[in-house]
Amino acid sequence: MPNDVLKCIKSRRSIRAYRPDQITEQELQAVLEAGLYAPSAMNQQSWHFTVIQNRALLQQMSEETKAHLLNSGFPRYRRLLTNPEYSVFHHAPTAVIISGVEDAIDPRADCAAAAQNMLLAAESLHLASCWVNMPIYLFRAENGPEWGKRLGIPSCYKPLYGVVLGYKTDKPAKTHPRKENTINYIR
Ligand SMILES: Cc1cc2nc3c(=O)[nH]c(=O)nc-3n(C[C@H](O)[C@H](O)[C@H](O)COP(=O)(O)O)c2cc1C
Repeated sequence: MPNDVLKCIKSRRSIRAYRPDQITEQELQAVLEAGLYAPSAMNQQSWHFTVIQNRALLQQMSEETKAHLLNSGFPRYRRLLTNPEYSVFHHAPTAVIISGVEDAIDPRADCAAAAQNMLLAAESLHLASCWVNMPIYLFRAENGPEWGKRLGIPSCYKPLYGVVLGYKTDKPAKTHPRKENTINYIR
């Protein structure tokens, strides 16, 4: 019984190649609104969204994140991080940093629900999107708090997740097979 929502959930993929043109304001607002309508523990809505659509700033953030990760010794990502072409935002024209209230009941769960809502909304609008956590390491660098201030993230909020948005290219996205035996039933 596939309906539009179920089809959207199955067709969403993490997209890592973006067209350079910016999404429309209407598309952006629809995606953000979907984030705002996520469930949250005790309805605390413990999230804050920071929208970044400044290419030069995204580039600078990506470079600093890569440098910080390389200095912190992430051998697994070395090849990626030393590639000058690689952006932690995948060169998407829009990034949303999702921050959570530090002393909320479960800000990580609230913000993750908001992130997933945004990804599904993006897919429903035929936009490309990807959940990106690599950029969040920027806020763990020595000058991380300054970045928080520069981006206008309220001081009691901690950056947790990133979502990038844009238009799809012709490059097909890889579909990973689902792991088996991850459900059990007691009836
Ligand atoms: C918590 C979390 C962090 C992620 N961080 C990144 C990231 O930094 N960069 C990236 O390209 N993809 C990132 N992803 C996307 C995953 O790699 C992707 O969801 C996974 O490979 C499955 O592919 P699919 O989304 O197309 O189903 C992240 C996903 C999650 C849930």
